[in-house]
Amino acid sequence: MHLGYLYALLARRDPSECISHKRMPTWWEHERFWQECPYKESYMVERLGGPIGMCYITHANEIGAHLDERSYRRAVIKHLLRTHPGTRMLLNVGTCDSWLQEDAVGIGMRQCQVTYEYTWPMG
Ligand SMILES: CC(C)(COP(=O)(O)OP(=O)(O)OC[C@H]1O[C@@H](n2cnc3c(N)ncnc32)[C@H](O)[C@@H]1OP(=O)(O)O)[C@@H](O)C(=O)NCCC(=O)NCCS
Repeated sequence: MHLGYLYALLARRDPSECISHKRMPTWWEHERFWQECPYKESYMVERLGGPIGMCYITHANEIGAHLDERSYRRAVIKHLLRTHPGTRMLLNVGTCDSWLQEDAVGIGMRQCQVTYEYTWPMG
């Protein structure tokens, strides 16, 4: 795992791509996160020998794909679907991420729910 790259990638992540993630972890939290790796599968995405992002599948079969070159996101998601035949895969997309919403439908995914959150006001 390219820990330094992953930390910078997370810091660069557009808020529209984050569903629950809000606060940038410390480097120590980041190291521990990847030591314990909460995902079922995770991969670096490389192009021309260098990293351009990462993708993962959670234990609930949710796909995450975070790429510096966003135009490759659709291809990465398609690849994860193709390589997991017979598995019901989920893609949680932020309300503001209309580009990914269109991509998901284009790939052949079907919208199956709308999720609401309540966050407590800061005291
Ligand atoms: C539960 C779910 C909806 C959370 O989505 P998310 O917040 O965007 O997912 P992340 O994997 O980035 O973050 C999950 C948690 O790990 C934390 N985390 C992520 N990377 C971390 C790191 N390097 N170090 C420490 N903590 C980290 C986040 O802060 C978040 O914590 P929280 O649950 O307390 O808010 C998730 O299961 C999911 O569907 N993920 C994919 C969603 C996604 O990326 N969609 C758009 C692109 S395909």
